[in-house]
Amino acid sequence: MIKFVTTNDGKFKEVSEMFAAKGIELERLNQPYPEIQADSIGDVVEYGLKTIPAGEGDLLIDDSGLFIEKLGGFPGVYSSFVYKTLGCQGILKLMMGWTAREARFETCFGLRIGGETHIFHGKCEGVISTEMRGKGGFGYDPVFIPKGQRRTFAQMTVKEKNEFSHRGKAARSAIKSLLKESGDE
Ligand code: IMP
Repeated sequence: MIKFVTTNDGKFKEVSEMFAAKGIELERLNQPYPEIQADSIGDVVEYGLKTIPAGEGDLLIDDSGLFIEKLGGFPGVYSSFVYKTLGCQGILKLMMGWTAREARFETCFGLRIGGETHIFHGKCEGVISTEMRGKGGFGYDPVFIPKGQRRTFAQMTVKEKNEFSHRGKAARSAIKSLLKESGDE
């Protein structure tokens, strides 16, 4: 059994649905892990994994961020702080009148299986909408439209978001690797 260490209901729903569809059950460990202020989400994940005792067994952690192109990738590793302080409305206000609205989400998964660490990345390009739309998802979902789509992540079902999202991509890589290791693929 793999424990997904997260305090975020949305992340757990998205990832556990994908894993379950491939016959891998995830248990939730609803507790925070120390998130260092680092230059990349990969560093946050690697450090975070090390702080969780080996006794917890097989683990998954997820660190993600929103990177706005015109802001040089900000908020990036500061996404959580900016969400708490400015929120979606603050981002919209900051970008009011801008035509360059390109942004991307990135996710880094840290998977520790049998004491060995595996890292997986997922990226989703898109744009920041000009207004908040939709009631689903969490965080910046109401203002993010993945490339080629018209709806924000918050206007999609969990299944639809998983098809396009940064997290969906990281999850597919992790699942592929797990199935390969167990010889089920
Ligand atoms: P965390 O550090 O990975 O928990 O996330 C950093 C910030 O980005 C938090 O404010 C999250 O709500 C937000 N965030 C992470 N993943 C997503 C996503 O898939 N959609 C929208 N916001 C997200």
